[in-house]
Amino acid sequence: MIKPTKLMYSFVRPALFSLDPERAHDLTMSSLRKASKVPFLTAQISRMYGNCVPDLPVRCMGIDFKHPVGLAAGLDKDARALPAFSALGFSGVEMGTVTPKPQPGNDKPRMFRLVEDQALINRMGFNSSGVDAFLANITKTEKTAVAGINIGKNAVTPIEDAHFDYVSAMQRVYSQADYIAVNISSPNTKSLRELQSEASLDELLMKLKTAQKKCEKVHKRYVPIALKVAPDLGSHEIEVISELVLSHQFDAVIASNTTVTRPDSLKSKHAQEGGGLSGEPVKELATECIRQFYKALNGRAQIIGVGGINNADDAWDKMLAGADYVQIYSQFIYNGPGMIGDIVKGLKAKVHAQGFKDLPTALEALRKK
Ligand SMILES: Cc1cc2nc3c(=O)[nH]c(=O)nc-3n(C[C@H](O)[C@H](O)[C@H](O)COP(=O)(O)O)c2cc1C
Repeated sequence: MIKPTKLMYSFVRPALFSLDPERAHDLTMSSLRKASKVPFLTAQISRMYGNCVPDLPVRCMGIDFKHPVGLAAGLDKDARALPAFSALGFSGVEMGTVTPKPQPGNDKPRMFRLVEDQALINRMGFNSSGVDAFLANITKTEKTAVAGINIGKNAVTPIEDAHFDYVSAMQRVYSQADYIAVNISSPNTKSLRELQSEASLDELLMKLKTAQKKCEKVHKRYVPIALKVAPDLGSHEIEVISELVLSHQFDAVIASNTTVTRPDSLKSKHAQEGGGLSGEPVKELATECIRQFYKALNGRAQIIGVGGINNADDAWDKMLAGADYVQIYSQFIYNGPGMIGDIVKGLKAKVHAQGFKDLPTALEALRKK
C-alpha cells in the first residue's frame, strides 16, 4: 500500500512539474521558508516525515550525524529553510553556495528537467543574495540539523584573486557553520574549475587553512573544511588533489558536483543544454570518483558522497566506495521527502542483515573485503 506521505507528493509533483523548474523551485523554497518560521508547521512536517526517519548514527569530519543522509548544496542557497529541511528528515543541510557579494547568476532559463533521464541540468551561476543576507537569515535560524555552509567566489572576481573571496566568505560564515564546504567545482562560473589545478589549489588551500586557524582562535571552535570537487577529474588529478587535501589538512572531500559530460544514453530534448548534469546519469561517475578518492586519501580525510542517489542501494554503493556520509539533490526533486526515510531504513536493514551492530562498523569491515 502506498503511504499517505508518498501519496501526497504524487499529487504535489505533477503540480510543481507543470511549472517552469526555477519557478517550482522558488515556490517550494518560499513555502519551506514560511514553514521554517512557524514552529507549529515544522512540528507537523516532522510528524509526517522527519519522525519517520530512524536513527543510524555516523561521524564525519568529527561531527555526529543522526543518520547519513543530508541535503546537497544549491537548493537552500540563502539559508532560508534549515528548520523545514530538518523537519523533512535530513540530518544535515548544506546551504549555499554563498558568494561574498550578492549577484544574480546567469540569465534565465538556467534550470532544466530531463524527466526521461531522471536528471537535471543547471547553469545557475551562483545566484546568491550575498553573505550579509545569508548571515541575516542563518543567525535567526534554530539549528535543528547539522549546518554546512558552502562558499564560492563572485563572478566579477578574477580567478587569480579567487582566494580573497573564499577567505572573506569563510571568515564571515565561520561562527554559524558546523562545517564549511569550499566549492571549486561548479561548471557555471567562468574558469572556476581551474582552481582544481595543482598550483592554484595549493595556494587556495594554504590560504584557507591559515584563515581557518585564525578563525578557530577567535571563535574558540574548530569548524572542519571540506573541498567539493567535480566528477570529471582524471586519475592523476584525483591523486594530486588528494595530496593537497592531506598536506593542507582539509577534513573531507565532497564528491561530487555536477558533470559537464553528456552520456549518449540521454533521451530528453534538454540533453544538450549547457551547464552541469545531475541525477541518475551522474551516479556511476560520482561513485567512481569516490572510489578513487578513497584509495588516494587512504582514510586520512573523509568523503561525503553525492550524485544520483535515488535509494538505499545507491547510498550503500557510495558508502562501500568510501563515503561516510551522503547527500541528495536531484532525486529529492523527483521523489519528494519520503525517500529520506526509505534510504535510512534500507541502509539500516543492510547493516543488520549482515550482522553488524552499526553502520561505521559495517563499512569498515566491508570496505576491507
Ligand atoms: C539546480 C542545482 C543547483 C545546484 N547548486 C549548487 C551550488 O550552489 N553549490 C554546489 O556546491 N552544488 C550545487 N549543485 C550540485 C549539487 O549539490 C550536487 O552536487 C549535484 O547535483 C549531484 O547530486 P544529485 O545528483 O543528487 O543532484 C546544484 C545542483 C542543482 C541540480
